[in-house]
Amino acid sequence: MKVFVAVFLCILIVRNVRAQYKECRNPNQRTGQCVDISWCPALMKSRSTNSGVHFILASFCGYDRNNQALFCCTWDSDYDGEASNVLPLQDTCGGDIVNLNILSGKKTVISEFSWMALLYYRPLNGGNLVHKCAGSLINHRYVLTAAHCVTGRYILGIGRLVSVKLGVHDTRTAKDSISMAIEEIHVHENYTDGYNFLNDIALIRLESKVDYSATIRPICLPSTVGNMGMSMRDGQLLYVSGWGRTLNGQSSPTKLKVEVGYWNNIRCKARYFEQHIALKDSQICAGGQKHADSCEGDSGGPLMSYHQGVWVLQGIVSFGYNCGLANWPGVYTKVASYDYWIKEKMRP
Ligand SMILES: *[C@@H]1O[C@H](CO)[C@@H](O)[C@H](O)[C@H]1NC(C)=O
Repeated sequence: MKVFVAVFLCILIVRNVRAQYKECRNPNQRTGQCVDISWCPALMKSRSTNSGVHFILASFCGYDRNNQALFCCTWDSDYDGEASNVLPLQDTCGGDIVNLNILSGKKTVISEFSWMALLYYRPLNGGNLVHKCAGSLINHRYVLTAAHCVTGRYILGIGRLVSVKLGVHDTRTAKDSISMAIEEIHVHENYTDGYNFLNDIALIRLESKVDYSATIRPICLPSTVGNMGMSMRDGQLLYVSGWGRTLNGQSSPTKLKVEVGYWNNIRCKARYFEQHIALKDSQICAGGQKHADSCEGDSGGPLMSYHQGVWVLQGIVSFGYNCGLANWPGVYTKVASYDYWIKEKMRP
């Protein structure tokens, strides 16, 4: 009888605990149960390696009633060895601490746009590294930028791209930032280093995986959120972020954010045709309000839309006719047009 009662109690307890478990997703995007770590054999095993400890921290999924941290339990003990070609889901990418009031301001809050990457070059004379272009982190391993930031006439006079810095807000202190070496660079096969900068897109593979944190997160691609930019309207607000040259001709030490209005392609093509520059549908135009534009130093950085609570990478800063000039929108590479190309280039 005693045994029976004990077994019965056990069943009751297990049932109760079961019902309390919340579903969660671990860093490998697998669905698991949010539990106390001592209940999770796979995560208990993770504690013995450095990467495993990171994996545990990244598996954090909330607190129980006693303020005990809970972790997402699956059979995984570590990051997938082969996940570098997997893009994050909407619950991981594009998230930010967004305070709508600041969207009209200039300076960003520290954890804003945490996918922004700074590209560092070794000058031809061998001096200290300089940062020129920007890029966007799209998963643990890849940064998307403009082709003209890694090849062609623009970087001829600058030097060779050697590293990528992530988690930077203020370039003077670069607190909490990490520098990553580059494993390989894919430049679009049909990039034209000419007047219209067609196919101005490149994908950088970092030498190792980067862990996500409050200041380092990936941005969503349009295909991830099912927003391929088809429904953008004239004047719709998009956002550009960077440390680029501002109108007084200096580069800003802290990340800036600028609102830019979308231009439909017909209007924009006509505008640029006046300068004998033929744009294509794989390019997006935005901006053209005086004092609000992306400038040279922001090359390769993101043009973003805010969609259902996440930030989406709609464009890559490519070129413009002068800088901050009224009625001349900036031209961006349309990321949705290169969805297949990006996914094809990424490898495990
Ligand atoms: C580059 O252009 C050629 C010729 O138009 C085309 O066949 C090829 O598919 C293009 N490559 C890519 C990666 O788009």
